[in-house]
Amino acid sequence: MESDVFPDLGKVAENMSDEKQNMPHHVAIIMDGNGRWAKARGWPRLKGHQEGANSLRAILRACRDHGIKYLTVYAFSSENWVRPKSEVSGLMNLLKTFLRKQEHELHENKVRLRMIGRMADLPAAVQQELERVMAATAHYTEHHLILALSYGSRTEITEACRAIAREVKAGQLDPEKITEQTVAQQLYLPDVPDPDLLIRTSGEMRISNFLLWQISYSELYVTPVFWPDFREQEFAAALADYAKRHRRFGDIK
Ligand code: IPE
Ligand code: IPE
Ligand code: MG
Repeated sequence: MESDVFPDLGKVAENMSDEKQNMPHHVAIIMDGNGRWAKARGWPRLKGHQEGANSLRAILRACRDHGIKYLTVYAFSSENWVRPKSEVSGLMNLLKTFLRKQEHELHENKVRLRMIGRMADLPAAVQQELERVMAATAHYTEHHLILALSYGSRTEITEACRAIAREVKAGQLDPEKITEQTVAQQLYLPDVPDPDLLIRTSGEMRISNFLLWQISYSELYVTPVFWPDFREQEFAAALADYAKRHRRFGDIK
């Protein structure tokens, strides 16, 4: 008998499993708007970056709670080096602090830290800290936090082309046998599945050289909220929006 008081548990379970099916496996985020967030308060840009680091902590926790396996965040682009020296060094220091402060929680939640981008561009102290935390968490498989640092998608694809050309030149690869898989295998983290959902904060409708190959079929979500204000609730709204999407992958179904 139907009852309003006692819900049909079969239906509840069905809805729950539906919701689970519509959860992204991999979320990528362009964390934008730190500077404008600070400016609106009359504060230095670095304050925005500091508060942005707190958003990253909050979203990482939310990924754990929602059972999202991969989180890739754009933290510093290959184009960001042109910013004033003081902002770049402030960001690099913040990154070091973030790694040190976050290590405990990464272990607690079994999160593996990884990076994409040109490691060699980063200051030696940042490289050391990154290498250390990545090695210390390398055995975790449940959750992955991927930091895009000195990252540029065109550089990533160019480096992949170079590696493939070397194999061809060495006679190890027939150009006619090059497939999409061959290219994907040469990108920074070939074992990581493509993002299902790409979020950009601060309202900008652009990709800014982020994961061009990998986001071919990602669902896009742009919110006007600045990154330092993007917390669990905003993230839950993005996930709810994603859950309603119908991914067709070229089909008509
Ligand atoms: C994103 O915030 C963080 C980085 C690019 C490092 P911005 O610093 O780009 O902030 P806005 O876009 O100037 O507000
Ligand atoms: C993209 O933001 C890079 C990061 C969030 C790290 P930008 O602020 O650098 O992008 P543009 O310059 O507005 O396209
Ligand atoms: Mg920006």
